[in-house]
Amino acid sequence: MAQTEDTAFDLEALVAELKSASRSGNAATEMRSIMDQAFSDPENVARHIPEFAEDDTVIYEDDHLSIWHCRFQPGDPVPPHDHQVSAIIGIYAGVERNAFYKSNDGGIEHSSDVMLGPGEVLSIGPSAIHSVECASEEPSCGIHVYGGPLTRIERNLFDLEAGERMAFTDEAYERLKGA
Ligand SMILES: [Fe+2]
Repeated sequence: MAQTEDTAFDLEALVAELKSASRSGNAATEMRSIMDQAFSDPENVARHIPEFAEDDTVIYEDDHLSIWHCRFQPGDPVPPHDHQVSAIIGIYAGVERNAFYKSNDGGIEHSSDVMLGPGEVLSIGPSAIHSVECASEEPSCGIHVYGGPLTRIERNLFDLEAGERMAFTDEAYERLKGA
């Protein structure tokens, strides 16, 4: 049996650890280490994490930190966007495809893809632009951690086809998702 079987995943404890780490002088490294540890046993996370009614749930937010539970359904991609703060993504079920883009002449172009399966953790820099979608038959589920108050940060959405950047508003997001 894996040693981690002894300790049930505890979402409240994870939030407390990330909150404490976000105040440290070495926040990015400490938070990554906490996420690596938490997702080293993805089945443990899947067994003990609460059931979330919504696909996107803000678990915690303060001036230094945001923690989201993100569930992506097959065939329902999230359009390209930035965060303006660093992010750490940990997956415990399904496969999440992250497509990355680089800026060019006012628009963006696709640069790389990263597929994240259960137990995998990815760190993203503050200027990264990505789109996200489920790449498995079942929904992909994970925890996304951001180094700031994501709901209060002015950030950008990108219309890949039109080559346009726009402010990230609910309206623009829904329009791009429906496009
Ligand atoms: Fe994102």
